Amino acid sequence: MDGEALRARVVDQYSQFVNPGLARLMGFAGFGVEVEAQGCWVTDQDGRRYLDCLGGFGVFSLGHRHPQVVEAVKVQIDRMPLSCKTFFNPLQAELAERLAGVAPEGLQFTFFSNSGAEAVEAALKMAKAATRRTKIVSAVGGYHGKTLGSLSVTGREKYQLPFEPLLPGVVHVPYGDTEAGVAAVDETTACVIIEPVQGEGGIHVPPDGYLRALRQRCDQTGALLILDEVQTGLGRTGRMFGSEWEGVSPDLMTLAKCLGGGVAPIGATMGSAAVWERVFGENPLLHTSTFGGNQLACAAGIAALDVIEREGLVKRSLEVGGLLLDGLQGVADRSDLVTEARGRGLMIGVELALDEVGELVTAQMLKRGVIVAYTLNNPRVIRFEPPLIISETEIDVALESFEEAVAETASLLAAYS
Ligand SMILES: Cc1ncc(COP(=O)(O)O)c(C=O)c1O
Repeated sequence: MDGEALRARVVDQYSQFVNPGLARLMGFAGFGVEVEAQGCWVTDQDGRRYLDCLGGFGVFSLGHRHPQVVEAVKVQIDRMPLSCKTFFNPLQAELAERLAGVAPEGLQFTFFSNSGAEAVEAALKMAKAATRRTKIVSAVGGYHGKTLGSLSVTGREKYQLPFEPLLPGVVHVPYGDTEAGVAAVDETTACVIIEPVQGEGGIHVPPDGYLRALRQRCDQTGALLILDEVQTGLGRTGRMFGSEWEGVSPDLMTLAKCLGGGVAPIGATMGSAAVWERVFGENPLLHTSTFGGNQLACAAGIAALDVIEREGLVKRSLEVGGLLLDGLQGVADRSDLVTEARGRGLMIGVELALDEVGELVTAQMLKRGVIVAYTLNNPRVIRFEPPLIISETEIDVALESFEEAVAETASLLAAYS
């Protein structure tokens, strides 16, 4: 089947069997069919290559198909891919120990699941069980997933309204507003759940001291601090964990996305010994998952941690992220269409002057062979989250494409105004 026929067939299958609205949306945006990928590059049905500056929304920190992760998973497939859930699983044990070795101080235990939302569900349940309280504080514009519990703390009405009533007792406060955050936490609060840098909300970096103030208020009131590091974790922000920017240790921390090395899906909820005792002390089966901690995912996770360490990806994220941010800020300085570039490490957002422009700029970049997207809760912000292995040359390709796309969009707007 040639490329065009393949695309037509897949779009038709999406229309008939997956989601007709999504088929229209993706078709309109000009997306093709992903056929294969390697490193920072994705190939479509026509053999055209695209520089992946979105990185699967943070999944591909190691790039696509990192050879060491692929090899670890292949070896494990031939040995034992999934757990029979009765014997001890050595890979789960190993990954849990490895995570405890790199996590913020005090996070000793890990519960494994299969996605970010599941990791958040587990954290919320654990906070409630550990405190026997119900109030939860989270942020406006925050994104924690779309299962019922995680959706309750995700701060965007558009995705919540059809499912109401959601979890009772959730209070949303403006992100980065220390006073409002601290004031919302009291002796009835089970937990605060917050992203160290707000991702889908539009790549917002909180003011220095924000996480520390929340930590302190949680300590005063007996509430637990959950840091959702699903997107910020494992080097994305130029530190191993986003919390390290403020030297804060949470009571619970969630991970997913790049923990599987871009090869296997995995979620993880880490917690302190005190929390684990209160949650699992009486009933070690209080929260479980059939596939959570499976050998394939854990083999990928162990290999991913090895690669992050061996290739110095945390430091690289900080350095290369600085180059990208400077370049994007340069475009912002030269164009009225771009108001600001901001972020940490390789978690960068570019704010545009108008809501509708995000879609046009991303389409123009796609035309030029670079994949980016706007943030889910804020269409005015285009995010750049390329693999941490991205080279300086590839950064230049992305910057050139962005500048051209902005200029083209500006002339399109001028033509129609
Ligand atoms: C901070 C954060 N938490 C949770 C999630 C949900 O993860 P998943 O889509 O794997 O359920 C996401 C996904 O983007 C996220 O960015």
